[in-house]
Amino acid sequence: VKAPALEVDGKLYSVDDWTNVPASILSFLPRKLHLQPSHPVSITRQVIESNFPSPTYTHYNHLHPIVSVAQNFDSLGFPQDHPGRSRSDTYYLNKDTVLRTHTSAHEAEIFRDNKSEGYTISADVYRRDAIDRSHYPVFHQMEGARMWDRRKVLGGDVAKAVWKDLELLPKHNLEVEDPNPTIHPERNPLQAEHHTTEEAEAIAAHLKKSLEGVVVELFSRARNAAAAAGNADANAIEPLRVRWVEAYFPFTSPSWELEVFWQGDWLEILGCGVTKQELYINAGVPHKLGWAFGIGLERVAMLLYSIPDIRLFWSNDPRFLSQFSTLEKISTYVPFSKYPACYKDVSFWLRSSSSSAGGGSKANAQDFHENDVMEIVRDVGGDLVEDVRLTDEFTHPASGRKSFCYRINYRSLERTLTNEETNQLHDDVRKSLVEKLGVELR
Ligand code: PHE
Repeated sequence: VKAPALEVDGKLYSVDDWTNVPASILSFLPRKLHLQPSHPVSITRQVIESNFPSPTYTHYNHLHPIVSVAQNFDSLGFPQDHPGRSRSDTYYLNKDTVLRTHTSAHEAEIFRDNKSEGYTISADVYRRDAIDRSHYPVFHQMEGARMWDRRKVLGGDVAKAVWKDLELLPKHNLEVEDPNPTIHPERNPLQAEHHTTEEAEAIAAHLKKSLEGVVVELFSRARNAAAAAGNADANAIEPLRVRWVEAYFPFTSPSWELEVFWQGDWLEILGCGVTKQELYINAGVPHKLGWAFGIGLERVAMLLYSIPDIRLFWSNDPRFLSQFSTLEKISTYVPFSKYPACYKDVSFWLRSSSSSAGGGSKANAQDFHENDVMEIVRDVGGDLVEDVRLTDEFTHPASGRKSFCYRINYRSLERTLTNEETNQLHDDVRKSLVEKLGVELR
């Protein structure tokens, strides 16, 4: 008997207990929005890339999304019990192979490649997640990194060389709020075996200055466009507010996130830090030191163009796509219409955890994960679902059984859905919940 296998791009992947990637997700692989010439994700990529010019930086834009667990997690020092490794968060082809969850999956191989002092990687990344207007199971990231080679620094003073490179970066007069947040050494130690304090400080300063430059460039383009269009939306022309906050990543120390104030909230747009020396050592370039960052391209594009729903990026509707023809001019997105929402609830019981009926079912209390519900809804409704929210959760006092109620908002971005259509979709969602999760509908 031939073992079952998944075929993707002409390659076979054996299937096992870990396999959880549905065909609907694999169908996104050929889209490559970051390479579509007049797509907002691609334009955003190109504007950011222009801040990281060659030959200092090499731009990688064609790396395949299927990677090993070793690339995505092990090579970056993710602990075995890191939640990112779980099947509820990550799409597995099999126990050794995943759809990359971030562009950092390629750091080690590019360090090993050792082509230039810096690089950017832009690519599609995949995560099992909630359904709402800012989350989609596929999105695009840009990774960037810059390195210095100790052996090539004249006089051996790396910190001084880094400060000199920093002086060459374009000047900006953005006043960053909280430019140096407190760093907690228990989470984000100085890599004292590898770096002097001066080296780590110089690298951090170069990192922050480089990324502040990106944000200034992006938002000045957006503001100029809004002003030129006489856009009355105050948020589009309000002065830019930016701050640094401490963060944690297994592969950088210290680590930060950059947040931008947008429509009343601080919004995280990128993560970054001083690259852990183990990565360079394991990649055979122990004499290098430097920084890395990862930025979400849809997040930035949504801010730049005022795009209200992440599903729009996947639309083939010319009313969306025709609005983004040039790289040079960023103009505020004009919504073509808002079609009516249709809310429908589904309530169900999980099987009690002691019951063994329906072997392999996920619907007992320990194995249940909300992302399984999200995926079933996406599988049936695709982009006709705007968001899914938990509206009620209840444990029966006598039996201990758990019940959930989710509210699904059916709304197309392109047309008005008929009652018949939404009833049919909701019916299919209900059936699929029973079939795939083994829940009992209420
Ligand atoms: N890979 C991280 C993420 O997806 C971002 C990151 C990249 C952080 C590089 C630090 C350095 O959240």
